Amino acid sequence: MNDHHAGGQTAALIEDALAERFGAAVSVDPGLPGLDELLRIAAHRVHRRFQPRAVEPALLRLLCACALSAPSKSDLQQADILVVRDQAKQRAIAALIADMPWIADAPAFLVFLANGRRLPRIAELREKPFPNDHLDLFFNAAVDGALVLATFLRAAAAVGLGCCPISAIRDHARTISDMLELPERVVPIAGLCVGWPAERGHLTPRLGLESTLHEDRYRTDDLARAIDDYDRRRAARRPYARQRAPERWGKAAFYGWSEDKARQYAEPLRADFGAFVRAKGFRLD
Ligand SMILES: Cc1cc2nc3c(=O)[nH]c(=O)nc-3n(C[C@H](O)[C@H](O)[C@H](O)COP(=O)(O)O)c2cc1C
Repeated sequence: MNDHHAGGQTAALIEDALAERFGAAVSVDPGLPGLDELLRIAAHRVHRRFQPRAVEPALLRLLCACALSAPSKSDLQQADILVVRDQAKQRAIAALIADMPWIADAPAFLVFLANGRRLPRIAELREKPFPNDHLDLFFNAAVDGALVLATFLRAAAAVGLGCCPISAIRDHARTISDMLELPERVVPIAGLCVGWPAERGHLTPRLGLESTLHEDRYRTDDLARAIDDYDRRRAARRPYARQRAPERWGKAAFYGWSEDKARQYAEPLRADFGAFVRAKGFRLD
């Protein structure tokens, strides 16, 4: 098959994935370089079922090094990765989050960290003042950590691994922080299950680009209609198998994404996380 033909096929696959994702056409020039990478990004899906096959430590190290090559705000390098090798620790984390059995099943488990510790420490070592102990320190470290996480996902997908981020570790931030001996001003962003996928997984439709892609000014018009449209489009492809908290909210005749998210956030979630982050030494004002 010549390159142009292969490019045409890959371009068509990207267009299909994005049509399924956004319910709208996005055209792809078959002559573009990097279409294989774009296809992996466009067809992204979370993986929660893994083959019982180890992820080689050398491969994990390579992927971590690629992930830590992500851009970093002001070159401050405020993110770390912690690989949980000790099976007992992974089991203990899984036991805290019993409704996510994929944590125990994952052949590898990582924790992505926001690190606001190095920078004030460097100020001490170099005998400089540090008048930047405020929300921005936490925010920059969280952004750097999220970029490292996202870059890990791309690196893992490139070699055929599947991943599932786990923000639920923050439901047990103190316990997990103690278990992993996280020092002052180092806080978990998310865990990550990594393994060879046992199934292809499903592509999850996203909100329409008219809601999330803006030009020149932020458009807020007709959010209610855009959400309704998305709910219907998504339900046609990926209907929810279960309704959340029917004992509190009853059984909805139509149960869409927005109903699910509204129900999810009708409960206080992780309301103590700010206290945890402050107790870890971050000042958030
Ligand atoms: C920061 C972050 C935290 C997440 N935390 C969890 C989690 O605790 N448990 C889980 O099963 N999935 C978790 N996920 C996976 C999301 O549920 C998933 O990405 C989302 O449903 C969209 O599906 P997709 O990634 O296949 O498009 C998380 C994803 C991200 C980006």
